[in-house]
Amino acid sequence: MEISGTVLFIDDEKHVLDSLESLFGGTDLKILKAADPREAIEIFAKEEIAVIVSDNHMPGMKGIDLLQKVRDVSPDTLRILMTAYADLVTAVDAINKGELFRFIMKPWEDDALVQTVHDAVKHYHLVRTLKTGDEAALLGIARAIELKDPHTRGHCENVASYAMLIAGALNLSGEKKKRLLYGSWLHDCGKINIPDHILDKKSPLIKEEYEIIKNHPRWGADLALQARMPASVVNIILHHHERYDGSGYPSGIKGRDIPLEARIVTVADVYDALTSERAYRKRYSREKTMDIMLLMRGNIFDPEIFDLFLECIR
Ligand SMILES: [Fe+2]
Ligand SMILES: [Fe+2]
Repeated sequence: MEISGTVLFIDDEKHVLDSLESLFGGTDLKILKAADPREAIEIFAKEEIAVIVSDNHMPGMKGIDLLQKVRDVSPDTLRILMTAYADLVTAVDAINKGELFRFIMKPWEDDALVQTVHDAVKHYHLVRTLKTGDEAALLGIARAIELKDPHTRGHCENVASYAMLIAGALNLSGEKKKRLLYGSWLHDCGKINIPDHILDKKSPLIKEEYEIIKNHPRWGADLALQARMPASVVNIILHHHERYDGSGYPSGIKGRDIPLEARIVTVADVYDALTSERAYRKRYSREKTMDIMLLMRGNIFDPEIFDLFLECIR
């Protein structure tokens, strides 16, 4: 997926800037260069910058300090630091504090750098779109993410419609329903960070791949938090793989500690997964699905929510 956006590179060495520019020459990205930090800050007054990539060692100001300034003037811009090995601790520390999106070690590896910058541009657009809160845009994001995963076409909208059935049975307010709808659409949005070769895989996943997939609730919740989405939407994204008995992920919380909206989406999510075809198995009939799901009542699903759903679906 090619996406456009403006990327600003800062380095005090001209040949570095030139080779970065030629590396991104063939892409849809607009590349800007600055030789010193002050010049970089001035650019922010004139341009919308999706991603900034800065060298750390420059006369006058360290890259890490420049990126902190950028955070104040343009909080949505994704910040990437280029560091020498000696600055590794600084870089890791900055990542942990949420001050950086990623860091790149110098000398860089071309493919890794291109991939990182593209990930950052994608991330930038996603958060910007989520921030609009526009319903059509949110659904558009959900659909775009489904396209990444050919096995799950229609999944987000199906999950939303099953969740809405449960919401109706629970008599949830209009406002709560709306958040449930958005959360259902976006529950798997963290899949944007999962490499295509894992999502496209025709055979069952190996353990390492499954561990990567398991990050999607946290990655998605991070996106939603950055976009300042309502707490219940973030809860759905973060907790839709929790289990009622506490054996789920990412938090391992159980019972009613799992937010209601997430418990609803868990039931809807599993029902749609089982009644849809997968690369490695056919879809199950509604009866067979209900038999399977009955075994999950009380350990994976909130029994009350499951019973309500069972009634709705009959
Ligand atoms: Fe999921
Ligand atoms: Fe899902």
